[in-house]
Amino acid sequence: MKITIVGAGAVGASCAEYVAIKNFASEVVLIDIKEDYAEGKAMDLMQTASLMGFDTKITGSTNDYSKTANSDVAVITSGIPRKPGMTREELIGINADIVKSVSSSLIEHSPNVTIIVVSNPMDTMTYLVHKTTGLPKNRIIGMGGALDSARFKYRLAEALGCPSSDVEGLVIGGHSDTGMVPLTRLATRNSVPVSRFLSKERISQVSEDTKVGGATLTKMLGTSAWYAPGAAVSSIVQAIACDQKKMFPCSVLLEGEYGLNDLCIGVPVILGKDGIEKIVELDLDEAEKAKLQESSKGVSNTNGLLDLKK
Ligand code: LAC
Repeated sequence: MKITIVGAGAVGASCAEYVAIKNFASEVVLIDIKEDYAEGKAMDLMQTASLMGFDTKITGSTNDYSKTANSDVAVITSGIPRKPGMTREELIGINADIVKSVSSSLIEHSPNVTIIVVSNPMDTMTYLVHKTTGLPKNRIIGMGGALDSARFKYRLAEALGCPSSDVEGLVIGGHSDTGMVPLTRLATRNSVPVSRFLSKERISQVSEDTKVGGATLTKMLGTSAWYAPGAAVSSIVQAIACDQKKMFPCSVLLEGEYGLNDLCIGVPVILGKDGIEKIVELDLDEAEKAKLQESSKGVSNTNGLLDLKK
């Protein structure tokens, strides 16, 4: 199993590190436009192999896509990250050009690749890959919901005073401060609804804190986060590489599911060797449906800013 990670910045390098530590891939290629940067990160990571006990071979390359040939899965993290006070949507102009050229270079050398999009605005960048590459829709995946759900579980565990492993929760909708829809009604602590333990007000606070999860960290760190994004992508890569049939919310092209069409937005999917093997349609209540509908309008508006004729 060969994995390519485009962009050797903090998210890309964290993803490479987690993939290597989990030891399921034979090869990881890190690629970056900055001279020697990916090579340096790869060498640094390889020097942890004997300490961390992994056999994955990590190599780096300065923008030479021939090195990525025959990748099974590729992760696109390249582009500019947000700075404090910026929304993910403000990154669209620069990142759209980058994502378009990166995805085309990837497919040129790996026509059967499955692409995971991390670059922001993530739902719109995922849609752009659909519109410009012709890859089948099961092989184009946006990672937002997996990250947002991990942040939701963190906030739930914090409120419940329990370990995150005790908690289940899903965030659907767009990967934006206003677009995320944490499904608090379905969240559980060991199968027991969280409303059994938490007040309405506390649950609503968890929901609000989850939605600004990325913005909160961007303010604290001066740039966007990397450990949780890297871990979320590595879990998606693993689900595909190991044919796990695991369920994650991811941004996928909807064609009528949830009453939505012609956009990529976060909904639960089953991930296995064929990428998105199934879209899971949940029975949402009226309030949840309205929130998802509202979120989809935001994503469609951002998609409208793409220049697809270029
Ligand atoms: C975040 C970025 C990766 O939410 O979108 O941290």
